[in-house]
Amino acid sequence: MAFRARIDRRTALRGAALGATLALEPAVAAAASRPKPPSMPLGTPVGCAVQAELLSQDDAYRQAIIRDCDMVVTEDALKWDRLRPSRGRFDFTEGDAIVRFAQAAGLSVRGHALVFHGQVPPWLDTLRTRAEAEAEMRKHITTVVGHYRGKIASWDVVNEFTDDSPERGTGLRDTIWRRLIGDNYIEMALRTAAQADPAAQLVLSDYFLEFAGEHYDSRREVMLRTAQAMVTKGVPLHGIGMQGHLYSDRVVDREAVGRFVREVRALGLVVLVTELDVIDQTFPADLRQRDDLVAQQAFQLLDAISAAGGADAVLTWGLRDRDSWTRWHKPRPDGLPTRSLPLDDDLKPKPLHHVVQHFRRRVVASEPPTGNTKRLR
Ligand code: XIL
Repeated sequence: MAFRARIDRRTALRGAALGATLALEPAVAAAASRPKPPSMPLGTPVGCAVQAELLSQDDAYRQAIIRDCDMVVTEDALKWDRLRPSRGRFDFTEGDAIVRFAQAAGLSVRGHALVFHGQVPPWLDTLRTRAEAEAEMRKHITTVVGHYRGKIASWDVVNEFTDDSPERGTGLRDTIWRRLIGDNYIEMALRTAAQADPAAQLVLSDYFLEFAGEHYDSRREVMLRTAQAMVTKGVPLHGIGMQGHLYSDRVVDREAVGRFVREVRALGLVVLVTELDVIDQTFPADLRQRDDLVAQQAFQLLDAISAAGGADAVLTWGLRDRDSWTRWHKPRPDGLPTRSLPLDDDLKPKPLHHVVQHFRRRVVASEPPTGNTKRLR
């Protein structure tokens, strides 16, 4: 398969570039000892969130994804409300369609999100006891990860678990899972996912990890504390997702991002940018200016991450402006359509496209983290 070949070439080159002195994980070491293919630039695999419905009706959209992406992530298809409209039933129709498309196109797949407070079905509120919540969460994770075992390479296991007042208490968001199970629901979710697919890359992902200010410092702290606790206890966690929903009125703190990435990597974990886009509410209406500013914001984040060791993957939250959640959830006050993503409404590349593709090709010549890291390439 084309994608396998591409992974192997990249892995082999990365191994070769690093030399024999590093303690590489066995798969990488094995790849490094194979004959070296002709030189090809190394880079971060990139991808985007996709919707099953669009894939089924829009050939130009499908072709753009195949051209621009190494992987896709399920945007809404595997959220609880889609997957489990009623308690006794799992509806894999949309997820399966995305996986089929990806397999046929040679793209790898990330699953989003096994545990998330958003977009849950109303019946979830009927859970009352700790035992009931635990059983339901385990059943969900076991069934979904099991269904996609060997097909979905990486999972957002718990999404957005940091409280909006992160400096309060343990800093964890008050969700039904935390209320009924306790703070260890995160550990439980990770362990259950690892049992269902021991080869999958398991990720904790959250927003507002990118900006300057005390509030964002606190959020980074909660994430690092949580990651550190998992690593110390030997819980199977492999990556930290910075969602990367950037805002026109917030400054990316390059230094804090760099520190954060280095600390995550020092724990033996990789960093992923899981949901990159730019919410352009306060940028000027002028398209040229706006598109440039959008691209610059994203560049600041990706460049800071790259300088601190690089990301394991960069995914934008959609590919084409008109499909972006920002059109409905983060509209501009002047009513003009948002331009948050790499391609415009007619699938024409904008400056953000060039930024993302730049990092796709870029060589990240730094040590990989050690430990039980699972990398996507
Ligand atoms: C968004 C989807 O893109 C929309 O289609 C949906 O209506 C709302 O959710 N952070 C997340 C994603 O982790 O799941 C959200 O996705 C965007 C913010």
